[in-house]
Formats: sequence, C-alpha cells, structure tokens
Amino acid sequence: MEKFKVGIIGGTGMVGQRFVTLMENHPWFQLTVIAASARSAGQTYEQAVSRRWAMTKPIPEEAKSIVVMDAQADVEKIAGMVDFVFCAVDMKKEEIRALEEQYAKAECPVVSNNSAHRWTEDVPMVVPEMNPEHLEVIPSQRKRLGTKRGFIAVKSNCSIQGYAPALHPLMKYGVEKVLVCTYQAISGAGKTFERWPEMVDNLIPYIGGEEEKSEQEPLKIWGRVENGVIVKAEGPSITAQCLRVPVSDGHTAATFVSFRNKPSMEEIKECWAQFQGRPQQLKLPSAPKQFLHYFEEPDRPQAKLDRDLEGGMAISLGRLRPDTQYDYKFIGLAHNTLRGAAGGAVLLAELLCAEGYIDHK
Ligand SMILES: NC(=O)c1ccc[n+]([C@@H]2O[C@H](COP(=O)([O-])OP(=O)(O)OC[C@H]3O[C@@H](n4cnc5c(N)ncnc54)[C@H](OP(=O)(O)O)[C@@H]3O)[C@@H](O)[C@H]2O)c1
Repeated sequence: MEKFKVGIIGGTGMVGQRFVTLMENHPWFQLTVIAASARSAGQTYEQAVSRRWAMTKPIPEEAKSIVVMDAQADVEKIAGMVDFVFCAVDMKKEEIRALEEQYAKAECPVVSNNSAHRWTEDVPMVVPEMNPEHLEVIPSQRKRLGTKRGFIAVKSNCSIQGYAPALHPLMKYGVEKVLVCTYQAISGAGKTFERWPEMVDNLIPYIGGEEEKSEQEPLKIWGRVENGVIVKAEGPSITAQCLRVPVSDGHTAATFVSFRNKPSMEEIKECWAQFQGRPQQLKLPSAPKQFLHYFEEPDRPQAKLDRDLEGGMAISLGRLRPDTQYDYKFIGLAHNTLRGAAGGAVLLAELLCAEGYIDHK
C-alpha cells in the first residue's frame, strides 16, 4: 500500500514529539514534514529538540535530519508536500483556529489535537470507538470552507477518556447523572518532573478550563448530525472536579453514575467486555483489540502499571461497585498523551483514511 504523506504542525512540542514517535514504522503513514514556530524553523529536527526531547524512546532516525519548516509562513508549501497534517501547537485560540483553517483551505486535511475548533459546529470531535458517524458532517464543512479535500477534524480532551468511553456502551440504560473527579498527570500540562519540580510530593486542585471541558465535551460526542452541523446531546448531566497529581503519564477518573433503567453489575461488565467500535471492526493499525478492559483486582487500574495497556490505547477500568448516593461508582484510567492526545489523533486519522475522507493526492 502506498503510504500517506504526513506533516506534523507543532512537531517539536510535547504532543508533537509523541506524534513523531508514533509515525516511526507506521504501516500507513510516512512522516514527511515537521513544522513549528519561526524559532525552530531552519534547524534539523534533532537540533530543534535535542535539549527538550521528553520521550523515553530516542528520536527516530527518519526524523532527525528533517529540516523544520515554519508552520505559519509555509502553509501553501507544506500543503503541497503532504496528504494531511496533524496539528498540536501552543498558540492563542484564535490563532490556532485561523491556522487550521488556512491548512484546510489549502486543501490539506487537518487532524487536530488542539481544543480551538472543538466547538465549531461543523467540525467533528471524534473518539473513533464512540462517534465515528459524526464524520458525515465533513461534506457540509467543506462546503462552508469552499474546499474539495480540506477539512478539520478534532479529538476530544484527554480528561474525558477515563470515563466517557466506559459510559458509552451503557447509554442504552439511560445514563442520567454523572459525577467525576479526575486525577491528571503532569504530561497533560506538557511537563516532566525535571521541568516541574514543584509537582513532586504535591497536588494542585486546579487545571484551567478542564472542568468545563470534562462536563461539556461528552455531550457533543453523544450528539447527532442534523442539517450539516452537530447538535449536542441534552444529557446526561455531568459534574466534574479536575486535579493535577504527581504522576508522569496517565489520567485516572473516579466516576459515580445513575441510570433511568438501572442495569446489574454483571450487565455493566458484560457491556464493557463485549464492546467493539468501528476501529476494532475495521482492524485499524492503532486500534486496541479490547477497548475497555475490566480489572477484577481491587487495587487496579494503577497509572504506572496499566497506562501502557495495548500501546496506551486501551481504557482500563476497575472497582465497579454500588454507591450510597448514585447507582454505581468505578475507576477508569487512560494514557493521556497516547489515547488522550497523539494516539487518539492517529487512530482518528486512520479512521478518516479507511472511510475515504482522506485520500492520496
Ligand atoms: N500535553 C498534552 O498531553 C496535551 C493533551 C491534549 C491537548 N494538548 C494540546 O496540544 C497542544 C500542544 O501541546 P504541547 O503540550 O505539545 O505544547 P508544547 O510542548 O508547548 O509545544 C508547542 C508547539 O507549538 C509550537 N508553536 C508555538 N508557537 C507557535 C507559532 N507561533 N507558530 C507555530 N508553531 C508554534 C512550538 O514550536 P517551537 O518548538 O518552535 O516553539 C511547539 O512545537 C496545545 O494546544 C495543548 O493544549 C496537549
């Protein structure tokens, strides 16, 4: 199979580095362009990241000698060199919105890790196992942008991956009310312990904007495509508190849930065990074989032990039990920079290619 040529916009950052490592030996994708700010442009990738490489794997050989391009100045040039781009940049929201539209209008599909376009009503925000049908909105978006190939698709926030996927196969029981507390790793802030020593032996009870995202984003994912836009679902009602904890990778979520038609614990576990999404049916290269894993051990899932399950793409669940105020409570864990960021975006890109929304130029 001819590989798709891929660009990474923001390839020098924390999420960008993760994209670069995920492109190494990818069966469908060929890393072709890396772009970042004017500060990095003109250097080789190795020079640009040598002092801030944060991955445990070394810099992939194929990436080292790529000369970093200027993400803002070289839009047309980059769009001409690749079949699509991943985008993970740290800029002002309006600037990101404008930059991503520039790429889309240059007929270059954008698979974005940024939050800037998550609430644009004709931009699909997709967890491939949950709402692949939202890709149907892309033709309407192309019409608005005046493009044939170009469009923007986004992944959702990393904080929701520890509970929204677990609730998804239970929606048939009428999920009514959800309370969730998330315990989020420092890599979610683009940091390591070396760069954020204040986080050792600490907990910070505030992550800007995260609680709103945790409460609202699942509703767009559970929404429906209507008249060329995505209309968000009216429920369930979700309330969230999000805490930063001294863990390098892996966001944990403690969830409480009530149903209109309360299932038994056995039925819930059966739903999780049986659940298969479109990526599993299509056998996409980055799809975990078992998306939702339930651990019977009372002290699992643990961030350090379980975050890398199935390449960091599976969701680990445990401690399902009755609650005194809600019907049930349980614990979920997802790798925030794999499933929650770059890995989730790579899976989305694979889905877009498999479903024909991204083609070879
Ligand atoms: N970290 C996570 O787990 C996570 C999870 C979900 C979402 N996100 C989101 O992903 C995005 C990137 O996060 P990050 O943690 O990877 O940030 P980061 O480590 O600070 O990297 C930022 C990237 O953006 C580039 N950049 C900055 N200003 C630019 C400009 N004016 N023009 C072009 N490129 C520019 C940087 O290039 P230089 O190296 O040249 O400065 C770098 O490549 C953010 O929107 C963040 O909210 C992060």
